[in-house]
Amino acid sequence: MLGAGHVGPVIARVAVAAGYRVTIAASGDPERIALIAGVLAPGAEPRWAADAVDDADVVLLAIPIHKFAAFDPALVAGKLVVDAMNYWPPVDGVQELFEDHQYGSSEIVQHRLNRSTVVKTLNHMGYHELEDERRPVRSPQRRALGVAGDDPGAVDVVAEVVERIGYDSVRLGSLSAGRLLEPGGPVFGVSLRRPEFELALSAEAA
Ligand SMILES: NC(=O)c1ccc[n+]([C@@H]2O[C@H](COP(=O)([O-])OP(=O)(O)OC[C@H]3O[C@@H](n4cnc5c(N)ncnc54)[C@H](OP(=O)(O)O)[C@@H]3O)[C@@H](O)[C@H]2O)c1
Repeated sequence: MLGAGHVGPVIARVAVAAGYRVTIAASGDPERIALIAGVLAPGAEPRWAADAVDDADVVLLAIPIHKFAAFDPALVAGKLVVDAMNYWPPVDGVQELFEDHQYGSSEIVQHRLNRSTVVKTLNHMGYHELEDERRPVRSPQRRALGVAGDDPGAVDVVAEVVERIGYDSVRLGSLSAGRLLEPGGPVFGVSLRRPEFELALSAEAA
């Protein structure tokens, strides 16, 4: 987990609960996040970012997008990177890197992290709901989360994570299609079960 602000520790917590081994890092010394991690994500091990990434199968990027331009792509080279970030100018300010509106923010992230495989998910749900909204498989109330990527194998891996933490995964065929998961899109911030989620996506795509 890269990011130990609002979002990172909550995702770390539900991942630990799902049985994953989780390490968590912010931009500096792990001692600075030891208390946060201990209280908000017990079981997640605070590390320096490079150490956290080193033996991770999946790296989750939960940092403010206005910090992304300074993020070192070499840190996650060769890794499967889950992009949970959103570009939202009222919060992030206008970021030149993300202002080319023919591309979704995760496409731009992928372009910059060109030695990583990027999958977009977990961005469109409020972090404060992520724990309470989890449901077991086949629960009628189980909520859907979109998983978008260009690499089907990577999407499979991330979809399994989504399923294990307590959500139905709905695959979108490309990072470009992942624009439907962004702020202003049909599923952003909305609680939908799989059939309604798929309907909302197809209605918008039509
Ligand atoms: N609001 C929501 O419900 C929601 C839901 C899903 C996704 N998101 C997205 O999640 C992202 C994070 O949001 P947030 O509210 O958690 O942000 P936040 O509270 O500002 O936390 C940012 C965290 O990122 C760390 N960080 C910054 N640069 C880093 C780097 N280069 N390497 C490692 N860690 C770094 C910071 O560490 P330092 O303090 O050490 O710099 C801090 O721990 C945003 O893109 C947001 O749009 C938000």
